[in-house]
Amino acid sequence: MPRISTKGKNMPESPIRKLVPYAENAKKRGIEVFHLNIGQPDIKTPAVALEAIKNNTIKVLAYSRSEGSEEYRKKIAEYYAKNNIDVTADEIIVTTGGSEALLFAMGSIADPGDEIIIPEPFYANYNGFSTASGVKIVPVVSKIEDNFALPPISEFEKLITSKTKAILICNPGNPTGYLYSKEEIEKLAIIVKKYDLFLIADEVYREFVYDNVQHQSVLHNFGLENNAIIIDSVSKRYSMCGARIGCLVSKNKDVINTALKFAQARLSPPTFAQIASEAALATPQSYFEEVIVEYKERRDILIEELHKIKGIKAASPKGAFYCVVELPVDNADKFAQWLLEEFNLDNQTVMVAPAAGFYSTQGFGTKQIRIAYVLKKEDLITAVSIIKAGLEQYNKTN
Ligand SMILES: Cc1ncc(COP(=O)(O)O)c(C=O)c1O
Repeated sequence: MPRISTKGKNMPESPIRKLVPYAENAKKRGIEVFHLNIGQPDIKTPAVALEAIKNNTIKVLAYSRSEGSEEYRKKIAEYYAKNNIDVTADEIIVTTGGSEALLFAMGSIADPGDEIIIPEPFYANYNGFSTASGVKIVPVVSKIEDNFALPPISEFEKLITSKTKAILICNPGNPTGYLYSKEEIEKLAIIVKKYDLFLIADEVYREFVYDNVQHQSVLHNFGLENNAIIIDSVSKRYSMCGARIGCLVSKNKDVINTALKFAQARLSPPTFAQIASEAALATPQSYFEEVIVEYKERRDILIEELHKIKGIKAASPKGAFYCVVELPVDNADKFAQWLLEEFNLDNQTVMVAPAAGFYSTQGFGTKQIRIAYVLKKEDLITAVSIIKAGLEQYNKTN
């Protein structure tokens, strides 16, 4: 029997998707499942993007340039200028989603065995990308009690070794919803410059900030021209997850030239989806205003409803559309599976993402779940009432 690689065996399964078979079985039994587990927004894709595809008269669906089409990159640079991020089209590589941008970033800056420090909990697929790249994630713990704020910079400093290549942050955070302040990015800027590290910032949720707070990009005025790498994506911004378009942005020419070689190896990002993504850049501001109001209301309702449950600890998200919640249960993984396999309230149940998979330290987050507030408000209220009833029954019987 031919053998699978050790790397393949070590690839983690997605904590977001691993309960899918149980959800499918519940649906087969006639139970309605509210999906709070995955960041697939229910928001409509902007009409300009969909029309650009419908009205296209393209005759040959050819490869584009490996770094993405020039017109598209020029327009992305204009988008960044509006967000006070000063980059040119040459400093952008269009990728197949933010996912590929993360792979290119790791591939460009780290050799097998090198280390990247990441505040945990973090976007679970960072585990997969680092395994695929042979990179070791070194976690620094952020705590629900602190609302997942940046851990003290001394904690990062303790973890820096000769193998450390970068610090990776997600801002606003998935799964935490935390939005780093200017002071926090300044602290990170000082440390990455002191130790000559890269600062990779996953800013795919840049627009999703609430409470009139300004998003701080690592390419604002922090003097990080040599150090900063931005990971970006159209997936959430325009509710275009299926387009599979993102980008890697850096003012460091060595990073761009190296990432370009990875981009050349896979030839081209999706051509058709670049057409839609380019058109999406003309989305009127009113679209975002409505979407942000909707998410803010969802967040407020979710938190209000969660606080009605005894023994629960919920973070207060300031951005993105996720919330980490600590439950009064022995094990959130078991509870999440139980909700799908054994529980329903009036023929309805919920699917949540157990949060342990968002940590890389064994044993952390075992009582926590991540809720994605990507459902309409009425459904969120129902979903939380199901969790509440589920907790009461689970703790009686388990
Ligand atoms: C924080 C974060 N980064 C990157 C991605 C990758 O997104 P995509 O590959 O769809 O652009 C996601 C998707 O959920 C995410 O939440």
